[in-house]
Amino acid sequence: MTSYNLIRPLVFALDAEQAHRATIRSLGLLPRRALPAFPESLETEVAGLRFPSPVGLAAGFDKDGEVPDAMLSLGFGFVEVGTVTPRPQQGNPRPRLFRLAEDEAVINRMGFNNRGQANALARLERRSRRGVVGVNIGANKDSADRIADYVAGVAAMAPVADYLTVNISSPNTPGLRNLQAGGELVELLGAISEARTSQGPPVFLKVAPDLEAGDHDRIVRAAIDGRIDALIVANTTVSRPPLKSRFAGEAGGLSGAPLKPLALDALRAFRIASGSELPLIAAGGIASADDAWQRIVAGASLVQLYSALVYHGPGLARRIADGLAARLAERGMASIAEAVGSG
Ligand SMILES: Cc1cc2nc3c(=O)[nH]c(=O)nc-3n(C[C@H](O)[C@H](O)[C@H](O)COP(=O)(O)O)c2cc1C
Repeated sequence: MTSYNLIRPLVFALDAEQAHRATIRSLGLLPRRALPAFPESLETEVAGLRFPSPVGLAAGFDKDGEVPDAMLSLGFGFVEVGTVTPRPQQGNPRPRLFRLAEDEAVINRMGFNNRGQANALARLERRSRRGVVGVNIGANKDSADRIADYVAGVAAMAPVADYLTVNISSPNTPGLRNLQAGGELVELLGAISEARTSQGPPVFLKVAPDLEAGDHDRIVRAAIDGRIDALIVANTTVSRPPLKSRFAGEAGGLSGAPLKPLALDALRAFRIASGSELPLIAAGGIASADDAWQRIVAGASLVQLYSALVYHGPGLARRIADGLAARLAERGMASIAEAVGSG
């Protein structure tokens, strides 16, 4: 029983998007606190960044960078804000966010609703830089040149980002995922590589779980050639494994428990494709220390979660971190790095 179990019925009484807004607003009211300390064994280096815990908050929870410090202080080892697009946009009409409680899942078709990069930039400039905060960038729905939007995002957000994530895997901007295809991906990563400066932050690439055999090798090759520093595997799925909830037929990306096997399969395929040449960051259905450990031994250097927060509350990140430290100790391992890919 956690304190979240007590307030969960109140949260669930609200429409999903209203509950999310209320959550962000409450988090914004939390007094500023020191960053939590984690067991030393959890400290991990990826792309030259030092992560105090490998358990991060996935993109989409804090789209406009309103509460990264609150989420760090609640026990996340790193926080990814965004997706932010160059210009503000409304996203899709509501309702566009659905809790599938019977399935511990979420379907969303938000469509990159956000206040734009200038807004997030100003807010992130005001914080004092502590903890690892990444910025996830995307393209506007009505953009005539999506590659130019990513180039603009790199230039705009690099000054406030510990890392940047190039998100080409959201299913809710029509055609966006086509940027994962052969020629387009090479062109996009070439343009981004040119836009980066030598002092700029590392750049991660976030991919979909819905890929075909052969895609993994091709994406890994393009990522390495394009100087990508890590892959995030994965975004939400457009597939529909069997679901119990009445919202199962809603359009959008599915996340949470039903995504777990798909995201794990995709991670394994990317590990086979990349060996240990490209660090992997796992997301999709992670809700426990066992889930996180399974991804780490399958080759993930870091993990991220979002949907499980809806069902288990914000204390989950800390519980997973402590569970990972216990698993390392049980196996006589001194660090997460020792466990990565050991399965
Ligand atoms: C409501 C919602 C909004 C999301 N928005 C974004 C987004 O803006 N950018 C992005 O890269 N991923 C977004 N995601 C995907 C998550 O970052 C994550 O990759 C996915 O949900 C799988 O993890 P989970 O099962 O732990 O939720 C969103 C997910 C949800 C549930």
